[in-house]
Amino acid sequence: MMNCAVILLLTSSCFTSSALYNPNRAVTSKLKYLLEPPVYAEVVARRGQNATLPCILRTKPRHYKVKWTKLEPENMGRENIIMISNAQAFKPYGHLGARASLRRSHSMDASLQIRRLLLDDGGKYRCELVNGIEDESVVITLRIEGVVFPYQSEDGRYRLTFHEAKEVCAEQDGILASYHQLYRAWTEGLDWCNAGWLQDGTVHYPIIQPRPACGGQLLPGIRSYGAKDKNQDRFDAFCFTSQTSGSVSFVSGSFSFEQAGHACQRQGAELALVGHLYSAWRFQNYDQCDGGWLRDGSVRFPISNPRELCGGIPEAGVRSFGFPNKMKPLFGAYCYM
Ligand SMILES: *[C@@H]1O[C@H](CO)[C@@H](O)[C@H](O)[C@H]1NC(C)=O
Repeated sequence: MMNCAVILLLTSSCFTSSALYNPNRAVTSKLKYLLEPPVYAEVVARRGQNATLPCILRTKPRHYKVKWTKLEPENMGRENIIMISNAQAFKPYGHLGARASLRRSHSMDASLQIRRLLLDDGGKYRCELVNGIEDESVVITLRIEGVVFPYQSEDGRYRLTFHEAKEVCAEQDGILASYHQLYRAWTEGLDWCNAGWLQDGTVHYPIIQPRPACGGQLLPGIRSYGAKDKNQDRFDAFCFTSQTSGSVSFVSGSFSFEQAGHACQRQGAELALVGHLYSAWRFQNYDQCDGGWLRDGSVRFPISNPRELCGGIPEAGVRSFGFPNKMKPLFGAYCYM
């Protein structure tokens, strides 16, 4: 009998999985059942790691369920259920549910554990206590620690529609960056005078040193073109990536693009993607003062300790030679394995 009741309870909740979520339900008064503010309002982790989003009960109502959802800003109003649980049962939903569990380190613990984080797991998560009388919720932000890199197509500046921008980021082991990720990258030193697509379909670029060609003498900041036509308008892309499971190494030599690929294969590796090189630069302080081919046909090198003879730019960063003639045997190879 008890089991039936549980199943009924869970099934009735299933029907709400695509229902509109009512923002007016957001709690303004002090919470009775959930610990507020949460232990951490923001949890930070890298791709591949596990994260725990805290949600602790202060008091237990007699009957309740815990419902974890991911709030999708780009999908306003839609509710994305990850799991619903009560004392007896746990029901996961969707691709996040498959990697999620409740921590349950004690009887008041409803914290959500997510395994093997993906790049697009970042965002706001809601822990909701549902008891049929007065539902309560707290919101935790999961931030994937990573790096934003601008990407310009081999054909030149401003050649990518939104959908193509999404594809090129995926091809370079990344995703289109969110506005928050670009903003954070700007605070960390990204100055880039070419506008690029972001995940929400808007177009922006970050400027630290104001100059006439880059939005004039406005204050430093993120320059905005607002929302653009995803099918018609063409710009560059801002991609976001994080830690990788493999590592990048440099093979020195004077290779054509094809020879560079073979040089990596001899080591049981492949030419690295742009995202791999940025990730190594960001997380391993990778520093190599030699241009090397990457799999997309571009030539780049990562600098963590800026010095006169390595590009002459005072800031750390990944430098680019663009897309040189693939036949020219002039560069080394960045390999990934
Ligand atoms: C993540 O959690 C799983 C199982 O819960 C564990 O096997 C794995 O070692 C954890 N990974 C890390 C990076 O902590």
